[in-house]
Amino acid sequence: MKSQHQPLTEYPHGWFAVGYSADIKPGQVKKRRLFGHELVLFRTKSGKAALFDAYCPHLGAHLGHGGTVQGESIRCPFHGLCFGLDGECTSSPHDDNKMSLTKWELIEHGGFLFTYFDLNNNAKSWELPLWDDSSYSNLKSGCEVMRGHPQDVLENNVDFSHLGALHGFEFLPTNVQISETGPTFNIVAALERRGNLFARKRIRATYKIFLQGLGISYTDVEVPEQKLKLRLFGMVTPVDPGIIELRLAVQVHQIAEPQRIHPFLRLLPKRWVETLILHQAHRAFVSDASEDFPIWQNKAYIPSPGSLQSNGSILRYRQWAQQFYRHHPERSALVSGIFT
Ligand code: FES
Ligand SMILES: [Fe+2]
Repeated sequence: MKSQHQPLTEYPHGWFAVGYSADIKPGQVKKRRLFGHELVLFRTKSGKAALFDAYCPHLGAHLGHGGTVQGESIRCPFHGLCFGLDGECTSSPHDDNKMSLTKWELIEHGGFLFTYFDLNNNAKSWELPLWDDSSYSNLKSGCEVMRGHPQDVLENNVDFSHLGALHGFEFLPTNVQISETGPTFNIVAALERRGNLFARKRIRATYKIFLQGLGISYTDVEVPEQKLKLRLFGMVTPVDPGIIELRLAVQVHQIAEPQRIHPFLRLLPKRWVETLILHQAHRAFVSDASEDFPIWQNKAYIPSPGSLQSNGSILRYRQWAQQFYRHHPERSALVSGIFT
């Protein structure tokens, strides 16, 4: 009999990262493909970033291919129409200024650029949550494009039983507390594992995980013994049905006592310590996550998982995730054929 199992493909609605702030400098134009749309991202000379539909309303040139920034506008390479930050045509060689480009919401926060996406063009149902990053370093960042779906990637945060089997953790999380409010899902847990920053001895850390919709997640990791605080970001953005961009980034909180992490570190200037920790932490984060990549890229969505002990948290997460679809995701999996 033919298998009915399919991957998730429907685009959830919500806030999604469309890039890092550092991706786009004043005067730069970049093409982006997100949610099955061709888009253009640019930053004006004064530093304001904007995201528009890529195709010029005049005769359809792609502004990501040859578009240029002119002051506070983007100029189409084909016939020279310019569009300002509101998408309106600001100048035309033919005195026809009535055309406009569709503007996408764009908010810059914490080193990321975010947009709100809804398949049905419904108004946004919540504001982008702004987290406090005032005592944190710059981001150490990366981006991968792969097969996958945001819901599956973020489900990893509540799938405790895979930590041993896939990642080789010796202990499962303890003191797990889960709560959800509207588009926010929180998980707090304690975890003991072998340290992967300089010292290989066992460390105990607390994890506070924040999911904001199905596109934004970050984890505040605290290792009290080392007085070390890290923030790990996992931002997932649909590119096309079943294809995602995954941004894994790390920030480190100001380090007060580097010698508690490793005695050798007290000899180095604080800035170097911060950079070293940032690179090590990012490498460890990407290494952990990359063990999940082949699973995410090739899995099917099983609407009714069996009765493994940790499935309670997974089912709770899936229940919460339903609010981000027009349809129930179980149904979405069945109708995914219409998006492919
Ligand atoms: S296609 Fe852009 S100005 Fe003509
Ligand atoms: Fe994982």
